[in-house]
Parts: sequence; C-alpha cells; structure tokens
Amino acid sequence: MDHQSQSGSMLKTIWETLPKRPVTLFLVMLIIGVSAFFIDTLSENRILGVFIPAAFTQDKVQIYNNSQNNSLLGLGEMMETKTYHTTFSTQATSASTSLLMTTLISSTTTTTLSTSVTLISPQAAIEVHCSPSPYVDCDGSLMDESTTNETFGVVLLRRPGWMDISRFDFSKCQYSKCVFQGDTIDNTTRLIIIYTVGLNDNFKLSQRWPGQIYAAATWESPPHTHASFLSDKNSYWNFVFNVTATYRTDSEIFVPYARLIFQPTPKGKRPNYLEIAQKKTKWIAWFVSNCRTPSRRHEYVQQMQKVIDVDIYGGCGKPCSQGGSVCTEDFPAQYRFYLSFENSLCTDYITEKFFKLFTPNAHVIPVVRGGLDYNKHLPNYTFINASDFKSANDLAQFLKQLGNDPAAFSRYLEHKDMYRMKEKSGIDNIGCKSCQYLHTRKQDHEAKVYDMKDWMGDNRCYEANDL
Ligand SMILES: *[C@@H]1O[C@H](CO)[C@@H](O)[C@H](O)[C@H]1NC(C)=O
Ligand SMILES: *[C@@H]1O[C@H](CO)[C@@H](O)[C@H](O)[C@H]1NC(C)=O
Ligand SMILES: *[C@@H]1O[C@H](CO)[C@@H](O)[C@H](O)[C@H]1NC(C)=O
Ligand SMILES: *[C@@H]1O[C@H](CO)[C@@H](O)[C@H](O)[C@H]1NC(C)=O
Ligand SMILES: *[C@@H]1O[C@H](CO)[C@@H](O)[C@H](O)[C@H]1NC(C)=O
Ligand SMILES: *[C@@H]1O[C@H](CO)[C@@H](O)[C@H](O)[C@H]1NC(C)=O
Ligand SMILES: *[C@@H]1O[C@H](CO)[C@@H](O)[C@H](O)[C@H]1NC(C)=O
Repeated sequence: MDHQSQSGSMLKTIWETLPKRPVTLFLVMLIIGVSAFFIDTLSENRILGVFIPAAFTQDKVQIYNNSQNNSLLGLGEMMETKTYHTTFSTQATSASTSLLMTTLISSTTTTTLSTSVTLISPQAAIEVHCSPSPYVDCDGSLMDESTTNETFGVVLLRRPGWMDISRFDFSKCQYSKCVFQGDTIDNTTRLIIIYTVGLNDNFKLSQRWPGQIYAAATWESPPHTHASFLSDKNSYWNFVFNVTATYRTDSEIFVPYARLIFQPTPKGKRPNYLEIAQKKTKWIAWFVSNCRTPSRRHEYVQQMQKVIDVDIYGGCGKPCSQGGSVCTEDFPAQYRFYLSFENSLCTDYITEKFFKLFTPNAHVIPVVRGGLDYNKHLPNYTFINASDFKSANDLAQFLKQLGNDPAAFSRYLEHKDMYRMKEKSGIDNIGCKSCQYLHTRKQDHEAKVYDMKDWMGDNRCYEANDL
C-alpha cells in the first residue's frame, strides 16, 4: 500500500477524533508530525485522540493523565507543569521532542518538527538530522492541497507486464479521484501515459481531444529506452508529450525506483552495530546479470579486485547455486559492502540496486556508481560514492581501510539503519503519482510540449571517466 495514502487516511481518522479546543489543537498538530514519521510502527496507545507510535511507548508518553479519566492537559497547564514536557520524550527522539516542547512552551512561533536522533556507535553524541530530498521523506510528508474535485480518466498505453492495471485501485491513493479507462480513450480521458521503451512511429493514436495531457513514461536510462524520438528529431513522438513520468527528479510525475523514509529505531532497541561490524568475514558482494554495459562497471570492478575481494554472483560471476545462502537474504550478514553500480551513468539514474538494501537487518553498506548527485540527495554515511575517488584503486583502498576499522564502519551501519525503503516503483506508485499530479497541478499553467530528444538525449549520460 502506498505510504502516503496510508498516512493520509490515518490523519483523517485522527482529525475526526480530535478535541476542538484551539490551544490543544496546536499541540496535537505537532504530535501528528511525530506520529506521521513513525507511521509503520503504530500501536494502540492513544493520546489526545492520536495514535502514538510504538517507538514512544517504551519511555512512556504522558501528555494527559491517564488516571484522571484521560483528562486532557491544555497548553496553559503544560506551561506551568514542567513534568509533562520532560516525560514526553523517548531515547530515540529526545533531541527532537525536547526541542519541540521547549519551542512550544517558550514561544508562540511554530517551528517545523526537526527529526534528529543521536548515535549509539563509538563516535556517539553525534546528532543525525534528516534532510528531506526528492528521495528522502523525513516526516511522513503530509498532503498537498488539492486544486480540484474533478475525477480524471487515465489511460496507460504500451504497458509492460508489471503494470497490471487490473490489480490497481485508486481508492488506496492519497488522491483517489481517478479511474483507469483500460485502452479506451475518449473525451473524458485527461491523462494518457505512454510507456516509451521501444516506442516508434508505427504506434499512433487516432484522435487527440483538447486538454488531453500526454505523459512519456520510462524507467530505463536513455541508452536502454530505444525510442524513435531519441534517434530521430523528426519522429512523430518528439513534440507530443506534455509531461514526463520517470525516475528523473525534474519529471512532473516523479516515479523513482523507490524512496527512503527516516525511521530510526529507539536507541535501546537498536542492534549493537560495533559487534555486527566485528563479525563481518567478507568484503564485497556484487550480484549482476548484465555484463557489458555503457558504464563499463565490469572493468571497474576488475580493477578493484586487484586490491580487495569482490565476490561476483549471477550471470557475470559465480552462478547462484554456488553462492549458497549468499544468493538469498543472508549476504548482508557476511559482507561489509555491496556494489550498487548502475548500468549507465545518466542524470538521476538510480535503481533498486541501491534502495533494496534499506530493509531491516540488511547491515551492508552500498557502494554507488551512477549519474545521480548522490551526495546532494541521499543521507551522509549511508553509502560510499565511487565518484568521490579518482580511480577504482583509490576506492578499493578506502573500503579496505574503512572495513578494517569496525568503529568507523559501525557508524555507517547505524546511519544507514535509520532509513527504510518506501514507495517501491510499480503500478501502485505510477497510478497514485499520476492522480496526485492531476489533482495538484496548477490549473492555469501554460501549455508545455517536450522536445524529448533534447530532454532525454545523449547529453544526459556520460562516459566512464574513472577507468
Ligand atoms: C495523575 O493523577 C493521579 C491521580 O489524581 C496523580 O496521583 C498523579 O500525580 C497525576 N500525574 C501527573 C503526571 O500529573
Ligand atoms: C469520565 O468522564 C466521563 C465523561 O466526561 C464522565 O461521565 C465520567 O463520570 C468520568 N469518570 C470518572 C471516573 O471520572
Ligand atoms: C471540493 O468540494 C468541497 C465540497 O463540495 C468544497 O467545499 C471544496 O471547495 C471543493 N474544492 C475545490 C478545490 O473545488
Ligand atoms: C463527450 O462525448 C459524448 C458523446 O460522444 C458527448 O455526449 C459529451 O457531451 C462529450 N462530453 C464532453 C465534455 O465533451
Ligand atoms: C558523488 O557522485 C555524484 C555523481 O557522480 C557527483 O556528482 C558527486 O559530486 C559525488 N561526490 C560528491 C562529494 O559530491
Ligand atoms: C554531510 O557531510 C558533509 C561533510 O561532512 C557536511 O558538510 C554536510 O552538511 C552533511 N550533510 C548533511 C545533510 O548532514
Ligand atoms: C500538450 O501538447 C500538445 C501538443 O502535443 C499541445 O497542443 C497542448 O496545448 C499541450 N497541452 C498542455 C496542457 O500542455
């Protein structure tokens, strides 16, 4: 289920149960911010009509006094009674919540909820702040204002197998007033999404009604898109699309392979990262099926192998039958690093090779090599960026040094473990994001037509310069 839709409907439920006293409401709104970013660990504990995430319960939340018939404490009472704001804290979030409560008590200005936690790893006392980005959701992102109540017809053409619209239901989305109309386009169809991999001029639509928006969808990098508009600037499809639905951050309908949500485990419940680091027996795992790629990653890895062990599994290495448990979920236990090397080096092209490691107990650090500006968009200490190094040799030397220093390595493990993958790409994501686009776009914006060759053309990718 789409995370945003879940938090959306939850917030609605919460809203309906809220007390309607203005002062309390303000307090409650701040608490909703806290709830929203721990949304997946909800428990049954209620406070002021709001569900409190399990993360808080171990340290006891007391904003109202249970033993007095759940009597609400107003803001005025809280200002006088210091115990209340000191009890509203957990080990994991004490920094952010005490900040929150202090602000609340000492001034009337609103601050945004800062989501920060401290590390338990040896370098401890370091405070980790979540920085939002197109790929990082710090607080369970609340809803944008809908600009219309209209219900929109959506058609998705040239669907690959995984886009099974029969299994999709808009009612799961935050913006749900859309319908998939199968392959039937008529004057009620507002958005026509065309999957562009392999698109050529033999494919045409018979009629275009006024106001119909054409969206170009792809999840492949330009060298793997093979569409006529890339090779031929006179292609029919070059000046037809109004919006794009891709992994690029500048797409109107941004559909990355996945995103991350900041979801730190309370301090007391975190694993011992130092011990995990000390138990590592192997260096680097790489699962790969496609050997010859535009990024020449295979050559790069061969150069790394002169310095450090890289165990290669899949089509270009040992078959998985020989990898045994390594080819299942067990590999993060043994290995320190995993190569999330993209097949091509193109603007914003980052795939599941990176995001899939952000699952519980995957204590392995991704080493990334690709065209995204990783350092700008993704949290510090959750990955190693190959392009920070002049050569494969330099990178390998660094990994060796880091891997031989369990204290330093555990700091990466702990940082990375504060994030979880969410919103995996798929029909749910493209469906909900399309409907969100239709409901939040500016109604009076100027007509736009993409020059697709220019937008996606070869200058969006670069040759490997580190070999
Ligand atoms: C809650 O109420 C009980 C009973 O009236 C009282 O003993 C207790 O001190 C109160 N707790 C707080 C935090 O005010
Ligand atoms: C709890 O509150 C309800 C509603 O205000 C009231 O009817 C009830 O008597 C209270 N119970 C106690 C034990 O104070
Ligand atoms: C949507 O409908 C509601 C209820 O009919 C109305 O109050 C609201 O203004 C409408 N919103 C827009 C953006 O038209
Ligand atoms: C759409 O077409 C139908 C019949 O083809 C017509 O009755 C209807 O008025 C049209 N609606 C709009 C909004 O143009
Ligand atoms: C990390 O990778 C990206 C993409 O190559 C690059 O733009 C960025 O500058 C790299 N390193 C740093 C320190 O930002
Ligand atoms: C990441 O680390 C760099 C260098 O240590 C620092 O300048 C930057 O502010 C950090 N970014 C975030 C989001 O913490
Ligand atoms: C969409 O593109 C077409 C040309 O392909 C153009 O005529 C139309 O105005 C555009 N519509 C919007 C909403 O941008």
